[in-house]
Amino acid sequence: MPDILTDVTAKYLTSMEPSADTLVEEMESHAAADNIPIASRSVAGLQAILARGTDADRALEFGTAIGYSTLHVARTGTDVVTTEIDSDRIDAAVDYLERDGIDVTVTDDPTTIDTEPTGDGAVFIVEGAALETLPQIDGSFDLVFLDAIKSEYDEYLSGSLPLLRTGGLVVADNLLRGGRVAAAETETTPAPSDSEYGSSVTAIQAFNETFVDHDDLAAIISPQGDGTGIAVKTS
Ligand SMILES: C[S@@+](CC[C@H](N)C(=O)[O-])C[C@H]1O[C@@H](n2cnc3c(N)ncnc32)[C@H](O)[C@@H]1O
Repeated sequence: MPDILTDVTAKYLTSMEPSADTLVEEMESHAAADNIPIASRSVAGLQAILARGTDADRALEFGTAIGYSTLHVARTGTDVVTTEIDSDRIDAAVDYLERDGIDVTVTDDPTTIDTEPTGDGAVFIVEGAALETLPQIDGSFDLVFLDAIKSEYDEYLSGSLPLLRTGGLVVADNLLRGGRVAAAETETTPAPSDSEYGSSVTAIQAFNETFVDHDDLAAIISPQGDGTGIAVKTS
């Protein structure tokens, strides 16, 4: 867990994360071994809770990686349209999702995706750069999850809000960047960039202000995981 909370609290929260089945554990081990960034188990679980609690028909995700969050949401019966640029990660995601009995379609043409919910938690992986594919994604969504390139969060948000129904939810991962965002706000000299976070700290600082002050959202930033934005579309 990132160093946002005290060690004692972080350790306690990790111990209180929900237990996982063997597929979820395999995906977590794969991500750790290959240094693939995935949501924490609690943030993936949060999305599943929100999807189930709102009876979501369709979710839109930016950044599939190996399908970890996607799996959690699809298991609730919510269809997931998700974007990913890395073909090896797409192959891995397809393998994991299909092993779980989930129907998966991979396409580089989002206009071919049926906008009617299947009701079965089907997954549609849109291959390519999210900002290029997003304008072609159609239909209404109940949940949006921002998790691809941090400096593009603003554009993911503005591009996906017209597709999100009023009352729909936005979840944004990594809004505290291991504590660096808050540190950069409070230090008199800018926090030095490091190889893990780079310029994303500055981009996320700007995004966070947009997010919590957005006219069409009621939004908060929670310290869950690596910092999780949660919002409802109000208008
Ligand atoms: C943090 S990971 C996603 C993790 C995933 N949401 C999960 O929790 O299981 C971000 C992913 O975005 C992908 N990505 C990077 N640039 C992208 C782009 N321009 N368009 C779409 N995906 C991109 C990366 O390859 C990476 O797999």
